[in-house]
Amino acid sequence: MTAPYERYLQETLISEDALQARIRELGEQITRDYADSHNLLLICILKGGVLFLADLMRHIDVPHAIDFMAISSYGDGVRESSGHVRIDMDLNQDVAGKDLLIVEDIIDSGNTMQYILSLLRTRKPASVRICTLLNKPDRRKVDITLDYVGFDIPDKFVFGYGLDLDEIFRNLPFIGVCRPDMDTSQS
Ligand code: IMP
Ligand code: MG
Repeated sequence: MTAPYERYLQETLISEDALQARIRELGEQITRDYADSHNLLLICILKGGVLFLADLMRHIDVPHAIDFMAISSYGDGVRESSGHVRIDMDLNQDVAGKDLLIVEDIIDSGNTMQYILSLLRTRKPASVRICTLLNKPDRRKVDITLDYVGFDIPDKFVFGYGLDLDEIFRNLPFIGVCRPDMDTSQS
């Protein structure tokens, strides 16, 4: 009996244990860096950031609030983000004067994050930093400073742990590389 994801999986890139160990380290680093902050707000980017947020915040030992934003990019194929980014769901609070930490699943071209950053900066927060679980440096099209990075990964399409393969498999506890010849529409 094989699990449904197995036919799409080329290899496991980051195991559950490796993810959890690194997320603990990130949480401890964030705890140190924000020890004096009284206004920390974690902003999770939906949908890919949900598992990461849920695990990361358990290791952040300073008082903080959470909020959510949903962003989509459109114009190109599903696996290529374009420069056109749109807000599907905005925050429902004023972020002026707050220390914002954006929690994202992956930075690829950087277009999505550049859009989020420029939008949030217009709202006069005290600070804005980025925490991404995954980073694909080879794919970057715009220059962005990443404050916290879980793992730099090669230019391969990955899924699991929040990241989807055509909207499914976000629940997998590990990060897998998708077989290049496979697509969930071919089921
Ligand atoms: P960017 O705007 O090109 O940086 O794209 C970022 C978004 O593209 C991420 O938030 C993901 O939703 C999606 N993405 C990029 N690479 C992958 C991948 O390998 N697997 C799943 N989603 C990805
Ligand atoms: Mg995303």
